[in-house]
Amino acid sequence: MIESIKNIDLKPFNTFGISVRAKEFISCQDLEGVKEALAQLKSHPQAHLILGGGSNILFSKDFDGLIIHPDLTDIAVLKDDDTHVWIEVGAGVKWDDLVEHCVNNKWYGLENLSYIPGCVGACPVQNIGAYGVEAKDCIETVKGVYIDSAESFELKNSQCNFAYRHSIFKAELKNKTLITSVVFKLSKKVGFNLSYGSVQEQVEATGEVSLKNVRQTIIAIRKSKLPEPEEFGNAGSFFKNPIISRSAFEALKRKCLDMPHYPIDNDSVKIPAGRLIEQAGWKGKSIGRAGVHSRQALVLINRGNAAGADVIYLADTIIADVKARFGVCIEPEVNII
Ligand code: FAD
Ligand code: EPU
Repeated sequence: MIESIKNIDLKPFNTFGISVRAKEFISCQDLEGVKEALAQLKSHPQAHLILGGGSNILFSKDFDGLIIHPDLTDIAVLKDDDTHVWIEVGAGVKWDDLVEHCVNNKWYGLENLSYIPGCVGACPVQNIGAYGVEAKDCIETVKGVYIDSAESFELKNSQCNFAYRHSIFKAELKNKTLITSVVFKLSKKVGFNLSYGSVQEQVEATGEVSLKNVRQTIIAIRKSKLPEPEEFGNAGSFFKNPIISRSAFEALKRKCLDMPHYPIDNDSVKIPAGRLIEQAGWKGKSIGRAGVHSRQALVLINRGNAAGADVIYLADTIIADVKARFGVCIEPEVNII
């Protein structure tokens, strides 16, 4: 089943709250619907975009083509044993509804990823991550269809080339696939990852280290730092945290004495771009209708009626300033369309 709307304003469909128009928007409720939408692309080739919750996208202009929103919302238990359960989740399920469902069922693995906006179909694309956990840690298989042929594919975790904010879906398969479902392997055994920042301390302060309390603690931390899109349009971290060589890090430390860093391997470390942007003086600053959030410098915000170009201008200015001051290149994490 599909629902199609022509000449649609995309403002309600992107968390940045950017008002642009698309030629057509098709929402597909099942696999047949997905194939029907793709058939339209075959008979009338045109630009296409697969859109989940629009929480990692910045629209820079009207979209002269077809937007396909996969709204498959089934959650099915495929199998389980004494220690694990395997579930297949439709691309259209809201990510945080899935996390809540897992926590309620006492399935361990996704709780640190609580309260990330968006849909399940997008989680493998940038391998979403937060508080020491990435989606790849629990993804078993990604299922979908190729956009040009509508043929099905199934990729095992090891075939997805997952890395920090990266996967095959952002590289070789960029714009070539529509993900219809994701299979997750979750643990039935108690086990937490509380190593990020002050998470352990904050969970312990709740009185009991439990799945529900980990989820509530993560939600509280996130609410204390990140703006709700209803308050200020945003797409979470606008930039990726850069990975730099250890020698570049040693040089940087001379300029930013207390720069946090996370080892990647023997030769490289990841550093928080938010700290660089803050030290460059951008936190809370604006250029026109686009701004830098006052509690998290990595998050660019729509101060009201911003156009995509306003946000891009601000982002480019920050990139150039950080490069000039610290010699570090930062790049957008958000997909600019
Ligand atoms: P969209 O924005 O709709 O799409 C993102 C990309 O995935 C696009 O390239 C799109 O074409 C592609 N895509 C989407 N669905 C499919 C599909 N079914 N098949 C193929 N391609 C598809 N991200 C994190 O990693 N960690 C965080 O902690 C985090 N915090 C956030 C906080 C806030 C307040 C906000 C607004 C965003 C945050 N994000 C975070 C970013 C965002 O929520 C995630 O990237 C999320 O997975 C995007 O999901 P979406 O459904 O909104 O994807
Ligand atoms: N920091 C500052 N100033 C700031 C922001 C951060 O100094 O304005 C410092 C903090 O003090 C801390 C370090 O940077 O020492 C890291 O900060 P934080 O824990 O807030 O995380 P982050 O690196 O800014 C990343 C992800 C987030 C994710 C959090 C938690 C990226 C690009 N961003 O942010 O993901 O939620 O860690 O794990 O990796 C997203 O992708 O949209 C997103 C929100």
